[in-house]
Amino acid sequence: MHKTISFDYQLFEDDSSLNPNLQQLLKAANDAINLSYAPYSRFHVGAALLLSNGEIIKGSNQENASFPAGICAERVALSVASSLFPSEKIITVAIAYRNGAETVSFDTILSPCGICRQSLLETTQRQQSDIGVILSSPTGQIIYLERAAHLLPLAFSSLHL
Ligand code: THU
Repeated sequence: MHKTISFDYQLFEDDSSLNPNLQQLLKAANDAINLSYAPYSRFHVGAALLLSNGEIIKGSNQENASFPAGICAERVALSVASSLFPSEKIITVAIAYRNGAETVSFDTILSPCGICRQSLLETTQRQQSDIGVILSSPTGQIIYLERAAHLLPLAFSSLHL
């Protein structure tokens, strides 16, 4: 039996199609890039979460000389949100980056790593509602998808334990 998994997303050339709240969220993600500590990869990432109380939480990647100890911007932001506002739901996450390598093309839209997808999925299950995702390139192109859970099909989760 063959089955197919697919999902819809929107691709925009700039942020003008986003509502003002989401434009502000993406700006917060871009601001958070400046708080990144990424001396090893020189890949600076910012994430911003819009909470159900209207609060915006920022996170940036924090690297370490012991490379596996580094943590991605998305998971920094998720940890801050659940530590400071454990009962607020996360409505949307926005992610932005700046690459230190000048030779690399600047129009690639960032997509979260597998571990961050797993963490986002856990959050959607914990709060019993999905999370919208805004992914961006340094030149301002945007992917918007309504469900973070779509980023990790056939996922392992607490349902298996
Ligand atoms: N990184 C993030 O913070 N988020 C992503 O979505 C992709 C990767 C970080 C981890 C590491 O500090 C650097 O980017 C290079 O992988």
